[in-house]
Amino acid sequence: MRITVLTGAGISAESGIRTFRATDGLWESHRIEDVATPQGFQRDPALVHRFYNQRRADAARAQPNLAHRALARLAEHHRVTLVTQNVDDLHERGGSPEVIHMHGSLLGALCAGCGHRWPAALVMRALDPCPSCGKPQTRPDIVWFGEIPYHMERIWEAVEQADLFAAIGTSGLVYPAAGLAQHARRNGAETVELNLAASAVSRDFTDRRTGPATEVVPQWVAALCN
Ligand code: APR
Repeated sequence: MRITVLTGAGISAESGIRTFRATDGLWESHRIEDVATPQGFQRDPALVHRFYNQRRADAARAQPNLAHRALARLAEHHRVTLVTQNVDDLHERGGSPEVIHMHGSLLGALCAGCGHRWPAALVMRALDPCPSCGKPQTRPDIVWFGEIPYHMERIWEAVEQADLFAAIGTSGLVYPAAGLAQHARRNGAETVELNLAASAVSRDFTDRRTGPATEVVPQWVAALCN
């Protein structure tokens, strides 16, 4: 079976990484326009780097959980396309062979001047020179608000070809990711949402599994891998 899986911050929550929109979430303690927009980076690059350096350190300390590991097992039994909005590398460390990071990665650096990409240092600074053009405009390789997510052509294609589309731990508030379930359904796929609570797009799913990812994802995968 062809299965396209979309994950969000909820899958990494039980690994100790804060989600965005919970009451103790990242966006409660930071202004989106300061730390997650190109304009915020222009205004105060040092603040933006402090934010992502901290997130990079938090992610490096975190360990993949049973939900990440279950998705690696799913890929051994089915043709899985794993798309994540997460910028941590817990899917990779949990054993998933190929991960599409539509919102970029904490492990990447991007030159705001020439667009060159390279592996991020654990601690990055805006004044770090680009290895290609030499300009000191280094930013994290993260897709910010107002920017276009990566790999969208490949993602739409995987959604159109899917027999089953699953969204795990995502609030359904940020597009285009939030529109993938509806697109999958229109193209004939079964759709399942796995989440602690209803999302903003729950109506687009034919099936819902409610609970913590470390419980509902392994159960769902086990049923598909018998
Ligand atoms: N198990 C399953 N789901 C969970 C868990 C858990 N343990 N904990 C939280 N959730 C669910 C919440 O119910 C919520 O629906 O995870 C979702 C987290 O939502 P958000 O914080 O909005 O995260 P996400 O959907 O990934 O955000 C999308 O927004 O800020 C941007 O670019 C950022 O990629 C991010 C995008």
